[in-house]
Amino acid sequence: MAGVSLRHLYKSYSKNGPLVVKDVSLDIEDGEFMVFVGPSGCGKSTTLRMVAGLERVSQGEIYIGGELVNHVPPKKRDIAMVFQNYALYPNMSVFENMAFGLRLRKTEKHQIESAVKQNARTLEIEHLLERKPRQLSGGQRQRVALGRAIVRHPKAFLMDEPLSNLDARLRVQMRTEIIELHRRLDTTMIYVTHDQTEAMTMGTRICIMKDGIIQQVGVPEDVYMKPANMFVANFIGSPPINFLEGRLRLGKDGGLMFDTPRYAIPLAPEKSKTLLEKGYLDKAVVLGIRAENVYKSDQAEGLGVSIKTETPITGEVYFSELVGADRFIHVKVGDDKIVMRAAAYDRIADGMKLELALNPQFTLFFNRDTQQAIA
Ligand SMILES: Nc1ncnc2c1ncn2[C@@H]1O[C@H](COP(=O)(O)OP(=O)(O)O)[C@@H](O)[C@H]1O
Ligand SMILES: [Mg+2]
Repeated sequence: MAGVSLRHLYKSYSKNGPLVVKDVSLDIEDGEFMVFVGPSGCGKSTTLRMVAGLERVSQGEIYIGGELVNHVPPKKRDIAMVFQNYALYPNMSVFENMAFGLRLRKTEKHQIESAVKQNARTLEIEHLLERKPRQLSGGQRQRVALGRAIVRHPKAFLMDEPLSNLDARLRVQMRTEIIELHRRLDTTMIYVTHDQTEAMTMGTRICIMKDGIIQQVGVPEDVYMKPANMFVANFIGSPPINFLEGRLRLGKDGGLMFDTPRYAIPLAPEKSKTLLEKGYLDKAVVLGIRAENVYKSDQAEGLGVSIKTETPITGEVYFSELVGADRFIHVKVGDDKIVMRAAAYDRIADGMKLELALNPQFTLFFNRDTQQAIA
């Protein structure tokens, strides 16, 4: 077991080519489950492959267990990698696939046998040991790929979108199994995905990337509640966060109001204080609010949410979608669109006029030019 440290890592695939990883620095602690998440092409796989030793580092350092490994070949790094396409040897049985890494290491035969059997039992693939990969379903192949990785007791596991080829239901099941596997093995895992739900549910911490640059690193709750910028706020969470443009003005009580041509809403006192101190009076800002913090104003009162405002947010429902226990109501407010979470049983017809309230405790504010959160 070992932690992994990245120090000012850069990568370009050719001499004068673009940098696809830029100044990535990150300490992944021993035993941690770190998830790299971001849109396609943001440099997740490249970063992971540099840790594995499958790509050369253009600049910067990689440490595994405190040891500088930039020039250590992949085989000697003692890490295991699981890929999206499983990369099983087609002509070998499941047993041989799982045993392969141990054989290379000249492990004794009876040890190989017991290690493979034990791990096959853990992954519930014991009955498949004699089969060839082509005789397995996608989910079973993925288990074999995991089995092949864990049987070696590596210092760290690297996984690159390992569940992407599975159907939705199996993906959710395997997610849970990988979390349990991590708990049991207590080994450092670095997991790459483009799926924010996967990142939020699996990671002990998550690292959000965009254009080769780390945007934020944190525990899922922090990334969700305190996004560092508009990109993170929008990328994390489903449905995506609502963004509203407006200007901060002084209200009658001396606190700030978020003011737009159609509505004006008072800020929570502590947010008002911070934004005043930071010089945002009369400045244009972006307000971010998640669907679960938007209410019908008549319901908000009962929830103890203060909504006193002279010009309320009024809009018209143009679309609603049922998602299990929730119903997401899409409301048009002038040119703005606001999504509100309601209960599934809350029947709100399209075309209905609504007055909305935003929970002032959970409004986020962003600088409109830099797109950075205003703390
Ligand atoms: N072998 C390669 N040669 C040249 N460019 C590459 C290579 N692999 C990836 N890239 C480019 O590097 C960028 C990051 O790719 P990648 O790390 O695969 O992103 P992600 O895994 O986040 O989707 C992309 O622009 C991609 O086109
Ligand atoms: Mg990738």
